[in-house]
Amino acid sequence: ETPEQHAAFEARIAAGDKIEPGDWMPAEYRRQLIRMISQHAHSEVVGMLPEGEWISQAPTLKRKTILMAKVQDEAGHGQYLYHAAETLGATREEMLEALLTRKAKYSSIFNYPTLTWADVGMIGWLVDGAAIKNQTMLAGCSYGPYSRAMVRICSEETFHHKQGKEMIVAYAQGTPEQRRMAQDALDRWWWPAVQMLGPHDSDSPNTGVLSRWGIKLKSNDEVRQEFVNEHVPELLEAGLTLPDPDMHQNEQGNWIHGPINWDEFWAVIKGEAGLGNERLATRQAAHDEGAWVRDALQAYADRQRRSASE
Ligand code: 3HC
Repeated sequence: ETPEQHAAFEARIAAGDKIEPGDWMPAEYRRQLIRMISQHAHSEVVGMLPEGEWISQAPTLKRKTILMAKVQDEAGHGQYLYHAAETLGATREEMLEALLTRKAKYSSIFNYPTLTWADVGMIGWLVDGAAIKNQTMLAGCSYGPYSRAMVRICSEETFHHKQGKEMIVAYAQGTPEQRRMAQDALDRWWWPAVQMLGPHDSDSPNTGVLSRWGIKLKSNDEVRQEFVNEHVPELLEAGLTLPDPDMHQNEQGNWIHGPINWDEFWAVIKGEAGLGNERLATRQAAHDEGAWVRDALQAYADRQRRSASE
């Protein structure tokens, strides 16, 4: 990598160019994007597990069909993102191996249990709400395939977000039992959603290079503030109580939350707390049970290749 190549690349980033798969790029730009995009894809696929459990227990056919559509969307987002990572030279096998051996991460939020049906609504409202803030920011990312994937994914996330909010607002204004379930779901999902947007900027080692090269257009704390500012007033309006006694609005109109428990965040990511071990065991089992499909596809491809060469 010569200084001239770097200078030309930096000029393209400064000019707001989209970098495409065949273009020259620094090895670190490629590595960072494979890291981020593959972990994003892992998050989408693992994210199907907590909600998928409730498809067979949905309270009505309408809720069941909405949840099935949402989980199917997440699967599609995962495929979209694995393909985007493949344009950088990563292979499915490498990415999956990294996930299953814990070399790669996926979003901490999916290591929390979904204990009641109201959790499905709260995930739609808060988790997809946080994801929309993050993914809208990434839609402006300098890497073409990622930026375009985000545009498509954000449009589907708005449906996920709306259905979750609509469900919780209905329960918060419903029977005392429904109100209790909605509040219990908020008590358990609020802080994990706040943490989901990443460590504070002062503890975010990747943000520097990501923002320099136009991958991350806003910092973790900026995206977090957008998420908090939108959701706090709406949750309070629905008659719910935030599980954060320090929450208040400052003179600039920003909602200021209390201290975040980063020990829990890292424990959940490392599998020392929460359901990380169960999630990976489920993903490993799905991989093992699917081996026969991969073997059959490989045998068919080999036979096609042999008959083409005869
Ligand atoms: N869960 C797990 N790990 C996390 C994390 C989280 N919520 N937040 C940060 N981390 C990890 C980072 O991956 C990094 O570790 P690594 O170097 O081994 O990858 C470390 O903590 C330090 O964090 P940084 O802030 O330096 O890392 P980034 O600059 O990459 O910022 C991020 C973290 C904001 C999550 C960024 O990676 C990002 O925007 N990723 C793409 C979006 C994404 O992955 N979202 C996950 C949720 S997907 C989703 O919600 C689906 C929806 O349909 C519900």
